[in-house]
Amino acid sequence: MQDPLLARSLAAVWHPCTQMKSHGDGLSPLLPIVRGHGAWLEDTSGRRFLDGISSWWVNLFGHCNPRIGNAVADQLQRLEHVMLAGCTHEPVVQLSERLAQLTANALGHCFYASDGASATEIALKMSAHFWRNSGKPEKSGFVCLAGGYHGETIGALGVTDIPIFRDAYSALIKAAAILPSADARQAASPLEAAHLAAKALELHLAQHHEQTAALILEPLVQCAAGMAMHHPAYLRLVRELCDHYQVHLICDEIAVGFGRTGTMFAHEQAAIRPDFLCLSKGISGGYLPLSVVMTCDPIYQAFYDDRTAMGFLHSHSYTGNPLACRAALATLDIFVDDNVLVGNGARGDKIDQRLAPLTANPAVSAYRRRGMIFAFDVAADGGFSRRFQHAALERQVLLRPIGNTVYLMPPYILDDREIDHLCQATLDALAEALET
Ligand SMILES: Cc1ncc(COP(=O)(O)O)c(C=O)c1O
Repeated sequence: MQDPLLARSLAAVWHPCTQMKSHGDGLSPLLPIVRGHGAWLEDTSGRRFLDGISSWWVNLFGHCNPRIGNAVADQLQRLEHVMLAGCTHEPVVQLSERLAQLTANALGHCFYASDGASATEIALKMSAHFWRNSGKPEKSGFVCLAGGYHGETIGALGVTDIPIFRDAYSALIKAAAILPSADARQAASPLEAAHLAAKALELHLAQHHEQTAALILEPLVQCAAGMAMHHPAYLRLVRELCDHYQVHLICDEIAVGFGRTGTMFAHEQAAIRPDFLCLSKGISGGYLPLSVVMTCDPIYQAFYDDRTAMGFLHSHSYTGNPLACRAALATLDIFVDDNVLVGNGARGDKIDQRLAPLTANPAVSAYRRRGMIFAFDVAADGGFSRRFQHAALERQVLLRPIGNTVYLMPPYILDDREIDHLCQATLDALAEALET
C-alpha cells in the first residue's frame, strides 16, 4: 500500500525542479524520508538509501552529524536570530573572519544571504553598483559561459545558460552575453579547450569591455551542465583578461566550494583570486540555508561614503542567521580537526578505482573526476535517467543523473564498505538501465 504521506505531499507541496505529473502518474514516486544518519537516508518503510549526491550537493559530513547538531543546539539556547542591519553577533563575525582567512584575507568583506541564487544576485548587483559608484555606469552588462548555471531567480537566470530552466521566462530576463565554455570534452585536449575559450573571451572583451561589469563562472566544474570540467589554466587566462579589460571576475563556488574539487576553494587550483566569491550549499554542512558573497577591499571602499545611496542597500530578512553561522563554524572546525582535504584525496582515489570498470563499457564516455566529483556520459535513449535512478534506488543508493550524465558527489565521510556499496550499485544500476 502506498504511504499516505506521498498523497498528502502531492496534494499540498509543489516540489522544486519537478514536473509534478511525473510523480502524480507514479512514473517516479517521491521518497518519504523520515530520518538521516551519516551518509544514509531512511524512508517511512525502513528502506535505507546511501545519499550519493549529498542531498543536492549540500551535505558534507553526513546527516544528523552530532558536531554540527550540537553547535546549532547550543546556539538555539543563546540567540536564534537577530536582524543584521544595525545589529551584529559573535557567530557572524567569527564566520566572516574565518572565511576571510581561508582566502588569505584577499576577500575580507562578507555579505550574507540564505541561498545560492541570492548570492548570485548580490554579486551581480555589487559589481554593477561598483562601476556606477566609480563613475562608469555604462559598465552594467554581464558575461557568462555556455552551460553555466547560477540559480533560478530572474537575475540569476540572466547569466544561466540552461534552456529548460530559462526559456519560459525569457521575456522577463536581461540576458547576458554567453561565451563558449572551456569544457574539456570539446577539444583535442583540456589545455586546448582552455585556450580556445579564453580566445573567445578576449575577442568579446576587446569589443565590449566598456559595457561589461563582470564575468561570472563556475570554476573547474560546471555542475548543473552535467559536471562539465575544465583545466585550471582557463581560470588563469580569464583572470589576466579580466584584469586587462577591467572587468570583475565572479567565481560562483556555490556548488564547488568547501573541498568539493579537492582544494578548499576551486579557484585556488589556478592560483588566482576572484573579485567576488559566491558560496552556499556546503557552507553549513547541509544544515541550514546560508550563502555569502565575499569581496575585496577596493570594491568595499567604493561603497563607503557619506551618501546613503552609495551604500549597498540590499537585504534579506534572515541575512547572517546565527544558527546557520554556527552550523558553518562547526563545519569549518571539522575540516581542520579531521584533515578532511587530505582524507578526501584517499577517499576519492578509492572511488576512482572502484569505478574503473566503467571505462571498458562501450556505452560510457568521458569518465572524469575532480576531487570528490565523479561523472561519466552514457550513450542511451531519453528514458535512461529515470531507469538509472530507479535501478540505483533498488540497490539502496540515491543518485539523480543529469540527462545522460551520471555523477557521484557523495558526502566526505564514506568508509570503505560504503564506497564499495556506492560504486557497485552504480555499476549494477548502469547495467540494468542499459539492458531495459
Ligand atoms: C553553481 C551554482 N550556483 C547557484 C546555484 C543556486 O543555488 P540555490 O539552489 O541555493 O539557489 C546552484 C545550485 O545548484 C549552483 O550549482
